[in-house]
Amino acid sequence: MKVLLTGGTGYIGSHTAAELLSKGYEVVLLDNLSNSEEKTVMNIAKVCGKLPKFVKGDACDAEVLEKIFTDHKIDAVVHFAGYKAVGESVEKPLMYYRNNIDSMLSVLEAMKRHGCNTLIFSSSATVYGEDNPVPFVETQRAGGCTNPYGRTKYFIEEILKDAAKADGNLSIVILRYFNPIGSHRVGYLEEQPKGVPNNLFPYICQVAEGKLPKLNVFGNDYPTPDGTGVRDYIHVMDLASGHEAALRYAAEHKGAEVFNLGTGKGTSVLEMVAAFEKARGVKIPYEIAPRRPGDIAECYADCSKAKEILGWEAQYTVEDACKKPLH
Ligand code: NAD
Ligand code: UFG
Repeated sequence: MKVLLTGGTGYIGSHTAAELLSKGYEVVLLDNLSNSEEKTVMNIAKVCGKLPKFVKGDACDAEVLEKIFTDHKIDAVVHFAGYKAVGESVEKPLMYYRNNIDSMLSVLEAMKRHGCNTLIFSSSATVYGEDNPVPFVETQRAGGCTNPYGRTKYFIEEILKDAAKADGNLSIVILRYFNPIGSHRVGYLEEQPKGVPNNLFPYICQVAEGKLPKLNVFGNDYPTPDGTGVRDYIHVMDLASGHEAALRYAAEHKGAEVFNLGTGKGTSVLEMVAAFEKARGVKIPYEIAPRRPGDIAECYADCSKAKEILGWEAQYTVEDACKKPLH
């Protein structure tokens, strides 16, 4: 089976590429390198022993897509490409709507032209918004997002459901990721955000490496056991295997189906700090800071649907994800 991974040199895309290659899939990566580097293609080969095909180009560009679908018999697409910084999306909403929605529409149109009917889409737990009780379950009402980034994910989910209703040949799996962390144990594919990281895990990594002096813990007065925010941190290798499970499911089912990909377990900021300190034998200095606007107290998944229907469940713990990769 030949799979096109848009955004394939990114953090989740590169791990998924390594996973699919190691399971015998053929893989073509498309990326415009707006948030990744071309050397990732070689790094994927270093961790799995197989070099993926790579096309530098934009997933919004119909000509680029046309050439890929003409040159390769693509059986399925995993659409990772998109912008993902919540704060930036508030400042530049049009850029986010243009890139995230346009790339999805362009990919769907190219798939239709070439009779490719299988799509896996990277959605996010952020579509559950602030009003649903935890654990978040796929049957809850989505769409109460607090920022334009989240809304691009929600709008694309609705577009995909409409597309599947109109075309009975389509097999679409929408994966709502919770908080991906960690990297391949061999290394080389670690998330390297540009500038100061926004997310907790890469921030802690940079404190451990001495690049940042201390962690600011955003609020300790939430209604959670220790007062700090609770999230469902999922090892990126578990996410990668979740995509493989989704591809197997899509090969046998038509329509559009939504699945949470999480662990089902909530971890607080202070628990994450403790797990990291234990796994790496380092001290992470921290200070309690005010709450970050837009944050919710708790976000974790009900993962029973993915377990029952995809036969997938997370294998790694937060402690596993905190271990230092070999390279
Ligand atoms: P990433 O930024 O590392 O990867 C995205 C890749 O897409 C980058 O390599 C970027 O260069 C590329 N890209 C962006 N726009 C493009 C375009 N128009 N054409 C071609 N390439 C383009 O991000 P990631 O963490 O690997 O996330 C992958 C997907 O998963 C994204 O859609 C993201 O919104 C979604 N997601 C991520 C998280 C998370 O916390 N990392 C959580 C939920 C959902
Ligand atoms: N946090 C800190 N200090 C930091 C960074 C984060 O205390 O320096 C706290 C946050 O307040 C929150 C927790 O750590 O309680 C996790 O924050 P992240 O920024 O790592 O993750 P979020 O849950 O806020 O958001 C992430 C992605 C979004 C995605 C969402 C749901 O960044 O894109 O998960 O999938 F939408």
